Amino acid sequence: MPMISSGLCFFAGIRRPFLDPDCHSRWTTQKGAAQHEAEAALRESETRLRFFGELEERLFGAADASDAMKAAAEMLGQRLNASRCAYADVDTDSDLFWIRSDYNAPGVESSVGAYSLDLFGPRAAADMRLGRTLIVRDVVAELQPSEGREMFQAIGIDAIICCPLVKEGRLAAMMAVHQDHARDWSLGEITLVREVAERCWSHVQRVGAEARLRESDERLRLAVQNAEIGFWDVDIVNDRLIWPAQTKAMFGISADVPVTMDDFYNGLHPHDREATTAAFLAAADPSIRALYDVDYRTIGKEDGVERWVAAKGRGVFDASGRCLRVAGTALDITARKRAEEALRELNATLEARVAAAIADREEAHEALRQSQKMEAMGQLTGGVAHDFNNLLTPIVGALDMLQRKGLGGEREQRLIAGAALSAERARTLVQRLLAFARRQPLQAVSVDVAKLVSGMGDLVESTTGPQIRVVVEVETDLPAAKADPNQLEMALLNLSVNARDAMPDGGTLRISATVEAISKGHRSRLAPGSFICLSVADTGTGMDEATIARAVEPFFSTKGIGKGTGLGLSMVHGLASQLGGALTIQSRPGMGTNVELWLPVSSEAAEQASVPQRLAADVHHRGTALLVDDEELVRMSTADMLVDLGYAVVEAASAEEAVRVLERGQSIDVLVTDHLMPGMTGTELARHVQATRPQLPVLLVSGYAELEGVDAERPRLTKPFRKDELAATLSTLVD
Ligand SMILES: Nc1ncnc2c1ncn2[C@@H]1O[C@H](COP(=O)(O)OP(=O)(O)OP(=O)(O)O)[C@@H](O)[C@H]1O
Ligand SMILES: [Mg+2]
Repeated sequence: MPMISSGLCFFAGIRRPFLDPDCHSRWTTQKGAAQHEAEAALRESETRLRFFGELEERLFGAADASDAMKAAAEMLGQRLNASRCAYADVDTDSDLFWIRSDYNAPGVESSVGAYSLDLFGPRAAADMRLGRTLIVRDVVAELQPSEGREMFQAIGIDAIICCPLVKEGRLAAMMAVHQDHARDWSLGEITLVREVAERCWSHVQRVGAEARLRESDERLRLAVQNAEIGFWDVDIVNDRLIWPAQTKAMFGISADVPVTMDDFYNGLHPHDREATTAAFLAAADPSIRALYDVDYRTIGKEDGVERWVAAKGRGVFDASGRCLRVAGTALDITARKRAEEALRELNATLEARVAAAIADREEAHEALRQSQKMEAMGQLTGGVAHDFNNLLTPIVGALDMLQRKGLGGEREQRLIAGAALSAERARTLVQRLLAFARRQPLQAVSVDVAKLVSGMGDLVESTTGPQIRVVVEVETDLPAAKADPNQLEMALLNLSVNARDAMPDGGTLRISATVEAISKGHRSRLAPGSFICLSVADTGTGMDEATIARAVEPFFSTKGIGKGTGLGLSMVHGLASQLGGALTIQSRPGMGTNVELWLPVSSEAAEQASVPQRLAADVHHRGTALLVDDEELVRMSTADMLVDLGYAVVEAASAEEAVRVLERGQSIDVLVTDHLMPGMTGTELARHVQATRPQLPVLLVSGYAELEGVDAERPRLTKPFRKDELAATLSTLVD
């Protein structure tokens, strides 16, 4: 084959034949002309080459499909000197097609728009659908009106080459060249159109594929990012691991730190390492090709944090069965796992929690029942004690007087002393009962508990004996408590005696005072706040549950008849409640006992304890006392005591009478009055008197149950009382 021809054939080999197929025979018959033709063909071929070079360049430079279509239409239209050139893509129904952009020669209208193929007549439509190029050199001459002639003419087409692109059995696109006058299309021109159409198609496809890829990449990226999914890709062949930032984060590795497979293996929780590694190997094993689907824990490389990861993936194998890579997704499921764990735990402990709640309720019920029982007992004992106390007052007073007067002989005096002692015991008993019933006439003041407790150490020690070690521990800076100091001392003494009794073989008795912040659910059942805790703890026999439950009941005692009244703890309990505090007992048989007395912290500083001055033995005149009491017996015994103490006594049987005495202008140095009397009460009298004589000292005498209407801060003496007690109280009033 001649060189030149071979050149042509070479080009024709990769592009399609362009010249007439019969050029070869012409070349052999007419050499001179053939030479000339060959040269022309060469030129033509070079032009063509340049054309396609330029076309490729423009198509490659196209950013999107419509750019590519436009470039191809423009170049082809100009090259063929056509009036219009358009590339159309066809809908899947093979009828509707779109011309998205076209080339138009100057003065020619654009054909951009959507068209139905069938409107161009059956011939054109059939040619297109069968993939045959439609070639019309003269529309008017070649097409019947029924063959779409009008349609062609309507858009200014007198000649056309329309090249269909049938892909995968379907008309996918068309390239059309229009001429606004009849034109004798050459074979070369027809071939050129076909070829440009093919190239345009493949570029449109490429650009579309690229755009789709970009779009799908973006979609994937967004999905992965928004769903917080990490992916992973293990390149088995090159032993490389690809992790994006999300996956690195699941292993506690910063985004910019490079990773290797070691980071994966080492980052696995020791408990999950074996199973996870085995699953990975099964996925990479060509004979298994298992789905890799595991939940595992990781230990953060940089932060040491434990996380849960759910990973899923599969191996990719080549034709020979070799595993090239294993790739998949990873999801941080730490929160979900934690929630699952919490739920499991919640379920597991549900029964226990229900049981605890029921127990709590039962305990609360029991506590309520107990307190109701105590309340009822308190009312009962309080009533009895009150009456009993009233009966006791003249007995104590009379016996006191008989004793002081030294009436009768020695035998009588012994009997009187015995009776006085019994009366004294009865008085203590009544006092305790009243304390339990919370009917004590308490004088709650701010008490320096630290001082009070420290001062009691010796007294306690003297009652406990040498076998028992007494330890007193007081917190420094202890705030004052709101309490009645005398009753508080009594309470501590009672508790100490109990402790002593519980340690017949000796032990340690520890009295301590601390301040505690009580919160909700405290064993004392007190409302939250600051409380002073006075604890009396021993290392003695302790108590069982049943004893603890009944210990504060009045008359409950395990000490045997004549040994214990069973009123010690009752008194302390009543005192604590009356002061707005509580009593708690912690004890176990053989383990000792800790009884705690909780008292509210006082908002004021502690008052200086006013220690009653004992009266000097020698009696001298102290002035005149106005004594008011409606009960003659009591008035008599009190008057007697006052006379003994050096007072001249003016008696009045009622408050009203006392007012009259005062109004007469009688000189009075002290007013001693009973509180509860028919008509005006003692307190009312005191107020009335002090309005006119503010300097006059007033001592109020009251029964235990007569607290109503009594001014708390007023000096007071509780019935029954002995002479020395009256003297001591008076000494604080009158100097
Ligand atoms: N520290 C303690 N160790 C062991 N048991 C105690 C302790 N304190 C009290 N108890 C038990 O509680 C019961 C009631 O105590 P409470 O102080 O009310 O009465 P009592 O001590 O028996 O009699 P009283 O106080 O009149 O002497 C006691 O009999 C004893 O069984
Ligand atoms: Mg006791």
